[in-house]
Amino acid sequence: MARTYYNASPLEGVKDDYNERLNNNDMQSLASFISKWDQRNQDAHQQIALFDTERTKHWNNHQKQLFAQLFYYARGRFHEFMWIMGNKAPTFEAKEMIVDNFREEFGRHGPSHEQLYLHFANSLGASVGTPETYWPFLHEYNQGHWNFLKEKDWDTCAAAFTGYERLDNLDYEDLEKTAKSIGVSGPALRFFEVHKNANHFEMTSKDLQEIWDKSPQKVIEGFTFIAEHQNKMWKQLSDAIFSSKK
Ligand SMILES: [Fe+2]
Repeated sequence: MARTYYNASPLEGVKDDYNERLNNNDMQSLASFISKWDQRNQDAHQQIALFDTERTKHWNNHQKQLFAQLFYYARGRFHEFMWIMGNKAPTFEAKEMIVDNFREEFGRHGPSHEQLYLHFANSLGASVGTPETYWPFLHEYNQGHWNFLKEKDWDTCAAAFTGYERLDNLDYEDLEKTAKSIGVSGPALRFFEVHKNANHFEMTSKDLQEIWDKSPQKVIEGFTFIAEHQNKMWKQLSDAIFSSKK
């Protein structure tokens, strides 16, 4: 069945529902908020062609390489996100949580995530990290994260960070399917596997309940921003690849 691709933000409904509930003093649990947020993100992916393997399997070599080149900049600037967080972290425990995330990025005893990414990109013959493949919408995406983190208080930033980690599990499950559909296989898929199975959400969610109990609005704001911002970027990345037919 043909899919229709959305323009409106699929997360808008979540924010509105929750604002309404909070105003009515009809408090929902954190678990119920997250489960609804997960569902909305799944629905959003359904409407982005990048996650439709019936379509991505027809990409030509140029489009496959462009995917690796653009996606690199959607992920390859995460260290700056964490750097801002670490410098803002108010406690030793919060700083340790960020440092542990860096350890994870460096792959602990195995190859770093950057090395795994390069392995994936090389398997498609794509050279990544060149300035001309850092397209304006990717600059905007990264800058949008950094502006949010600089502007908001720690609890809202911590919630956003946790939302980011949670989204990773969903994103990478679908991105792995996209990668397989364009012929990526074997060790070149490792980058997707480690992220699909990462337990970063558990690592970062320790304080989420506490933040929710103090101020559900901060969790809602952080999670909603992350999801809307990211789904907008996936749509732009998807459009960029499908409209590039060199
Ligand atoms: Fe990573």
